[in-house]
Amino acid sequence: MILEVKNINTFYSTSHILFDVSLTINAGEIVCLLGRNGAGKTTTMRSIMGLTPPKTGSIIFHGEDLKGKPPYYNAQKGMGYVPDNRLIFPDLTVRENLELAAKVPKNMKREPWTTDSIYRVFPLLKNLDKRLGGYLSGGEQQVLTLARTLMGNPDLLLLDEPVEGVAPLVVKDIGSHILKLKEMGETILFSEQNVEFATRTADRAFVIDRGRIKHQCTMQELCEDDEIKKKYLMI
Ligand SMILES: Nc1ncnc2c1ncn2[C@@H]1O[C@H](COP(=O)(O)OP(=O)(O)OP(=O)(O)O)[C@@H](O)[C@H]1O
Ligand SMILES: [Mg+2]
Repeated sequence: MILEVKNINTFYSTSHILFDVSLTINAGEIVCLLGRNGAGKTTTMRSIMGLTPPKTGSIIFHGEDLKGKPPYYNAQKGMGYVPDNRLIFPDLTVRENLELAAKVPKNMKREPWTTDSIYRVFPLLKNLDKRLGGYLSGGEQQVLTLARTLMGNPDLLLLDEPVEGVAPLVVKDIGSHILKLKEMGETILFSEQNVEFATRTADRAFVIDRGRIKHQCTMQELCEDDEIKKKYLMI
């Protein structure tokens, strides 16, 4: 198991947002955190990354409890976080955005990502090599944000709503990128509201509602469970 989140409780000042949230991810898996608007997806991602540290519970990553550790520490340990607001550098080219994020962790066992290998997996970015970040479409920026995080060679990618607000064609594109990354052995936790997209890309799902995990199952099981879908999700 690469990540085990155990009974975390997270607050924004005095508002209790996450209630005993627990989830697990094995190496090489694609897991989806599914839930409606305001269910607590972003808060869960931020809690794992250390941006909004939980008050209680534990976040065991590669066997070490990271609860209370700052985001930079968690990044050094191998977490890569892609927030829901795409934070690229608008005045730098696509290539510069990628190069700036390059980082090879100590004791890395796999081949590190390079701009060349990124361009092989994301040909869209290759064609935009010299384009300034600020001139990319929302979907292109989303792909660049994902690719830029990969340049840090994380062992676990946390993607917060990777297809929110992108055009349907790009949604398909990002879906196939995620599947390709899985083939290459990446481990991904992404959040999503829409069952359709999750079904095509994830192996397992955790369903969150009002800050509580209500259900966990394989994507196959979720597809066949109309009650859960109706109760907690957008269909
Ligand atoms: N900075 C904040 N201060 C106080 N409450 C917040 C803050 N950010 C979020 N919340 C509340 O926490 C709850 C969970 O929000 P969160 O952003 O984690 O949900 P989400 O599932 O990511 O939703 P969305 O689909 O809108 O991205 C919501 O009730 C929200 O209003
Ligand atoms: Mg969110």
